[in-house]
Amino acid sequence: MFNFGAKPNPKIAVVPPKIRVEKAPPAKKPQPLPSKIASKTVQRPQVPTRTSPAKSRSATATPDRLEPRKRKAVRQKSPVQQRIESDSDDDDVDSPASFDEPIKRHKSDRPPDLNRKLRSEKAFSEEDGVVFPMIHAADIASTSRKSKLVTAVEEKNVTVELRYPSASQRERYDLVFGKEQIDPAQEICDVAEIVTSIYLTEEEALPFTDPNSGIIRKLVRAKNLLSRDSRNKELLNGFKDAVDVYNKALEVPLKNGSLAKNLDSMHYLPYDMVRLILRQVYDRVVSPQVDTLKNKKENKENTYGELLPPFVSKIFEETHLKSDQVFVDLGSGVGNVVLQAALEIGCEGWGCEMMPNACDLADAQEKEFAARCRLWGIRTGDVRLVRGDFMQNTAIHEAMRRADVILVNNEVFGSMLNRDLIHLFLDVKDGCKVVHLQPFVGSDDKMKSRTLNDPVNLFDRIEKQYFENWVSWKFESGNYYISTKNDRRLKEFEHLG
Ligand SMILES: C[S@@+](CC[C@H](N)C(=O)[O-])C[C@H]1O[C@@H](n2cnc3c(N)ncnc32)[C@H](O)[C@@H]1O
Repeated sequence: MFNFGAKPNPKIAVVPPKIRVEKAPPAKKPQPLPSKIASKTVQRPQVPTRTSPAKSRSATATPDRLEPRKRKAVRQKSPVQQRIESDSDDDDVDSPASFDEPIKRHKSDRPPDLNRKLRSEKAFSEEDGVVFPMIHAADIASTSRKSKLVTAVEEKNVTVELRYPSASQRERYDLVFGKEQIDPAQEICDVAEIVTSIYLTEEEALPFTDPNSGIIRKLVRAKNLLSRDSRNKELLNGFKDAVDVYNKALEVPLKNGSLAKNLDSMHYLPYDMVRLILRQVYDRVVSPQVDTLKNKKENKENTYGELLPPFVSKIFEETHLKSDQVFVDLGSGVGNVVLQAALEIGCEGWGCEMMPNACDLADAQEKEFAARCRLWGIRTGDVRLVRGDFMQNTAIHEAMRRADVILVNNEVFGSMLNRDLIHLFLDVKDGCKVVHLQPFVGSDDKMKSRTLNDPVNLFDRIEKQYFENWVSWKFESGNYYISTKNDRRLKEFEHLG
C-alpha cells in the first residue's frame, strides 16, 4: 500500500544506508534541431524560473520551440537533400528549404525493440471514403487571412489535400500564409520528405528523390516559388499540381503493399517523425489556446511548463523504456510526454493532471493524436490521461505499482509536495526509475543527516544534465535526476532489524 502520511515505515528504520549518489557525465550534445521542424508556429508555455538575476536575462530568451533562433551552424543534409542538391542549378527556388537535418533511414542508436509493432492494421485496411474526425490544417487557418486572400484567389482554389502513408482519409490544407499559422506548404513538404525517407526503401524512393525529376524536388521548388508570391494563382496551382503528383505516386507503394511491408520490418520510429507528428498535434490543439495555460491563481505547484521532445526522448533512452513497459507522468499537463511515450516507444502511458484547462487540452490532444497516428498508419501504445490530484488518485497509484518509468517534473513544486511525493514511491516495483528535476530532499549533505528511516534512502540516485533549449521555460541547461528503486536496501534493513 502507498503510505501517504509522514509516518515512518518501521521496516526501514534501522541503519543509515549508504546512499549511492552518482554524477553522470553530461549526455552527448544532441544534433541541432531542424529549424523548420522546430516550427515558428509552436508556442510553448513558460514557467517562472528559479534562475539567478544574471541568468534570468537570458532565461527570457525564447527556446527553439517558441521562436527559432538564427543558426549559423553548417546544416547537415538528409540523403534526399544531398541527392537533390548534387544536381542543383543556381536557381534558389531549388534550395530544399524543408530539409535541415538528416533523416536516418531505418537506423537507430538504440537496441531494437523487437516487440514493437509499428503498423496500424486498421489504418491500412480502411475503406476508401471513410471519414473520421480530426483537425485538418485548413480548419485552423485564420478566417481573416482567408478573407483577405479570397480577394485575389477564390477560396475553394486555395485548398489542397495531402495523402498520408496509409489508406486513411487525406488532410485538407488551405494555402494561406501568416506568422501565427501553420505554414501549410512547408508542412506538406516536411510530411512528404519524412514519408519518402522512412516508409520507402532506397529503390522505391527513387521517383521521389531523383535529382532531376524527383517528386520531392518539384514539390519544394513549387513551394519556394509560391513563398515569393503567395497570391499568385499560377504559382498556387503549380504547388497544388506538385502535391497531386506526390499523392498519386504514393498510391503505388500503398496499393502494392510496400508501405505496409516496410513498416512491418521496422521496430522503432525515427525521432524526426515522432517530432513531426507531435508538432502537428500540438499546433492544432494547444498552440491556438496556449494562453489558457497561464496560472491565474498563482498557485506555484500548478505553474505550467513542458519538457521538450529532445529531452523526453533522452529520458526514454536513459531509462531504457520499452514497448512492453509502463510509463507514468505525475502532473502531465497537456499530455505531451505521455503521447511521446506512446508514439516513440509504443508503451502504455499514464498521466495525471489536476489543472482543468490543461486537462481539457490533454483530452483534445489525445483525440487528435489518435486520429493523426491513424493517418500516418502508426500503432501506438495505450494512452490514459486522468484528471485529479496524483496524491489521491487511485487509478494512477495502481498504474504506478506497475510502472517501469515515472516522470515527475517537479521543477517548481514546493518542498512540502516534494517531501510528500517520496511517500508515493514506496510501493513502486524494484528497479522502477523515477525521473525528477529537483531532489526530493534539499542536498546530499542534508540527506545524509536526515532521519534514518527516510524513504528516499530506498533509491539509488544519479544526477544528470539536460541541455540548453530542452525545457519550455528557460533557455539554459539544468540538472535532473534518475532515482532507481532498490529493494535490496529494504531487505538489508529487514535483516538488520
Ligand atoms: C511543469 S508541468 C509538467 C507538464 C509535463 N509533465 C511536462 O513535463 O512537460 C507540472 C504539472 O503538474 C501539475 N500538478 C502539480 N501538482 C499536481 C497534483 N498534486 N496532481 C496533479 N497534477 C499536479 C501542474 O498543474 C502542472 O500542470
